[in-house]
Amino acid sequence: MEKLIIKGGKPLQGTVSVSGAKNSAVALIPAALLADGPVVIENLPHIQDVGIYAELLKEMGADVLYEDDWMEIDGRPLNPVQMPNGKVKKLRASYYLWGALLGKFGEARVGMPGGCDLGPRPVDLHIKGFQALGAKVENQNGMLVLKAKKLKGARIYLDLVSVGATINIMLAATRAEGTTIIENAAREPEIVDVATLLNNMGANIKGAGTDVIRIKGVDKLSGCRHTIIPDRIEAGTYMIAAAATRGDVTLENVIPKHLESVTAKLREIGVVVEEADDTIRVVGQEKYRAVDVKTSPYPGFPTDLQQPITVLLTQAKGTSILTDNIYSARFRHVDELRRMGASIKVEGRSAVVDGGARLHGTKVVASDLRAGAALIVAGLVANGLTELEGLEHIDRGYENLVGKLTSLGAEVLRKVTRDTGRNETNTR
Ligand code: UD1
Repeated sequence: MEKLIIKGGKPLQGTVSVSGAKNSAVALIPAALLADGPVVIENLPHIQDVGIYAELLKEMGADVLYEDDWMEIDGRPLNPVQMPNGKVKKLRASYYLWGALLGKFGEARVGMPGGCDLGPRPVDLHIKGFQALGAKVENQNGMLVLKAKKLKGARIYLDLVSVGATINIMLAATRAEGTTIIENAAREPEIVDVATLLNNMGANIKGAGTDVIRIKGVDKLSGCRHTIIPDRIEAGTYMIAAAATRGDVTLENVIPKHLESVTAKLREIGVVVEEADDTIRVVGQEKYRAVDVKTSPYPGFPTDLQQPITVLLTQAKGTSILTDNIYSARFRHVDELRRMGASIKVEGRSAVVDGGARLHGTKVVASDLRAGAALIVAGLVANGLTELEGLEHIDRGYENLVGKLTSLGAEVLRKVTRDTGRNETNTR
């Protein structure tokens, strides 16, 4: 078993470079399968979800070369084989194989996805979209079986704004006959990133980044090179950590526009945030104000940062209310934060935080990826040692976390506890 040991109480100081976006990477990799030639994806983050995706593609017969921060994917030798449930369950974004394989072969057999447990995460909108394009969809004991004689463009209104459904429909519609119009589409930057890759491959997609996306089907897609956008959630996590520890951190390789809602909220709390072309500097302050936070689809405040910003609000004066409008049950970090001295209660889909807490280190467990991020921020703020378990969740989404935090002056190490009972420590 592995643990993260954090000695808290030191302000983060220095410069950190933000990696490529996880949520783009896990969509771009399956999107590359649609091309009749090799696609090179650059600025890939070194995280577990990317590694698992590379393995999945290899098992399916694709040629995959994965080196440092780039991957070359050639989907030509691919078979639309039945996927083992095991590996697709390891990541949520394996659902993009539905759209990519349906678009490429007119059929797909892929197990239901896994991912963080944030309460119910239905996929009805994905299915509704595939059906509208002419696919028959059946759930055969946890295996989604999709088949279409010919995919045909359609007008699809999404009842809820969904990142996954928007991208999946885009993938399936790229090679469909005629035009597909997605209404009430999600506007996340990762969607624009996927549309950019597909257009570079020869697709005809307009409107990505707005709530109406038009996809004119094309017969053929070819290989290309693509560089992933910076990870706004990783960036936001470091911004919050810098503020919470009352540090002074400059983030490099960011698109400040993608972080507008986070920057605005931090300023409302009293944090100093300075933006330049592709950098953001966060300067922590002694006193912070309580604020309310409501998550909503982009450009609103991201649900993925709701858990980390909760920790910052434990350091503010007054009562803050955080409402998660995307995932009603995304509060499994709260019990652990309470064990560290935070005063938070959950009421329905809101967490009520009484600020001014003195956090102290203790043993805590991450239940999901961003809960893990929140507990790391808490550990950095807390007095004494925090021992964090559940690192498998954090490894899914944060590249070189220990290395980056250490370079900012944090005292963090990863401890491997072997079954022999011997302890071995290392950092990475
Ligand atoms: C993506 C992100 C995740 C982020 C989330 C919301 C990836 C790999 N993951 O997840 O990090 O937290 O967006 O920004 O990109 N919904 C339905 N039916 C559906 C699909 C979604 O009811 O068919 C609901 C969900 O339960 C949720 C809301 O719609 O309440 C938004 O979910 P969605 O945007 O689809 O999230 P993901 O794409 O799974």
